[in-house]
Amino acid sequence: MEFDLQSAASAWSLDPGVHHCNHGSYGAVPLAVREVQKTILDRVQSNLVKFYARDAAPAIAAARADIARFLDQQPSQIALVRNATEAASTVLSAFPWQSGDEAIVLDQAYGAVLMALQRAAGAAGAGVRVLTVPLQADPEQVLAQVEAAIGPRTRLLLVDHITSATARILPVQALADLCRARGVAIAVDAAHAPGTLDTDLDALDADFWFGNLHKWVCAPPGCAVLRVAPRWQGRIRPLIVSWREPEDYPAPWDMLGTVDLSAWLAAPAAIAFFESLGWQRVRQANLARMHYGRDLLLEALGQPTGAPPPHSVPMGLVPLPDLQGGRSACAALQTRLGRDFGVETAITTHAGAYYLRVCGQLYNTPADYEALARALPQALRA
Ligand SMILES: Cc1ncc(COP(=O)(O)O)c(C=O)c1O
Repeated sequence: MEFDLQSAASAWSLDPGVHHCNHGSYGAVPLAVREVQKTILDRVQSNLVKFYARDAAPAIAAARADIARFLDQQPSQIALVRNATEAASTVLSAFPWQSGDEAIVLDQAYGAVLMALQRAAGAAGAGVRVLTVPLQADPEQVLAQVEAAIGPRTRLLLVDHITSATARILPVQALADLCRARGVAIAVDAAHAPGTLDTDLDALDADFWFGNLHKWVCAPPGCAVLRVAPRWQGRIRPLIVSWREPEDYPAPWDMLGTVDLSAWLAAPAAIAFFESLGWQRVRQANLARMHYGRDLLLEALGQPTGAPPPHSVPMGLVPLPDLQGGRSACAALQTRLGRDFGVETAITTHAGAYYLRVCGQLYNTPADYEALARALPQALRA
C-alpha cells in the first residue's frame, strides 16, 4: 500500500533508521527549506554588518509579507516571534492584570503556557481558574462551561485552538464571540493551527492569537506569529526591549538585538513548498496517514478500530493503559520507544488518562506505523 504524495517523503532528510511518528512536537524541515536557510546564514556570515545594519529590516519585511499573505492578513497585523511559548509569555506578562482579576483556562491548555499565565496573573494578585472539560465535550458543552464560568472579575480566557496532549479542536470562534459579548479578552494558542486549519483571523478577532510555523508549515524551528488586535497594540510590548521599542506594532518585535533571523527568512520557502503540492491535498494525505496509524495501534492494543477520530487534525489519540506516574511515566515510555525500538512518538497524559498521540506527515510511510504498532505492546510490557 502507498499513501498519496508518498514520493514527497524524499523532500526530508530524516534518519531512515528511525520511524518518525511525532511531527506535532517539533515539526521537521524539508531539505529545500534547509537549503534556503543555509544560503541566508552564509549571506549573513559573508558580511554581518551589511546584513544586520542594512539588509535585515527589508528582509524581515519581505518575509512578513509572505507569511501575512499565507495567513490572509496584512503585514501590519502580525508580529514575528520565535515560538508559541514566547508569544504566550509576551502577551500574558504585558496584560494589565489587577489584583482580584480572574483568568479562565481549560484544563487541556499546554503546560508551559498555563504556567506563563499563572506566573503573570499571580504576580499581580490575579487568580487563574482552570476549567475541567470532559475530553468528549462537544463545542456547545465547551461554550456552555466557559459561559457559566465567566464572572464579574473575569478578564481573560486563554484557549488552545488545537490541544496538544489530546489533539482536539476547540470552538475558538464561538468562544471569541462569547468573550467579546461579555467584555472578556481572549488569547488563542493556535500553536498547531497554521498549515492544519484555515482560520479567518479577522473574523475571529481574538485579542491575541499566536501560531507556530515550525510545526505544520515546516519552517525552521524559531518561526511563529503573534497577532495582537489593534485595540491592544499600544499596550502589548515584546518581552525584550530593543532599539525599535519606540516604533509602532509590529516593528518592536523585529530585531530583539543580534539574533538568528534565518528561521523567519526561510519560512516563505516552507510555505511555497506546501503550496506547490496543494494544501488541501497535503492535509488529506496527512490525515490518511494518521488514520492508518491510529487504526493499527488500536488494533495492536485490542481496541475497536474504524471509527474516525473526532477531529480532523493530523494527530490522533490512542488510549493507553494506566501508566501510573504522570508525565515522567509518559517520558519513560516515549524514551523506550525511541531508544529501544527506533520509533519516535508522543505519549501524553490528561486528566489521569494516558494516550499515544500519533501524527501524519508526508514523510510517513505505512512501515512507520506498522513498526510503531509492533513496538507499542512490547514497550508497554517492558
Ligand atoms: C498548544 C501548544 N501551545 C504551545 C506550544 C509550544 O510551542 P513552542 O515549543 O514552539 O513554543 C505547543 C507545542 O507543542 C503546543 O502544542
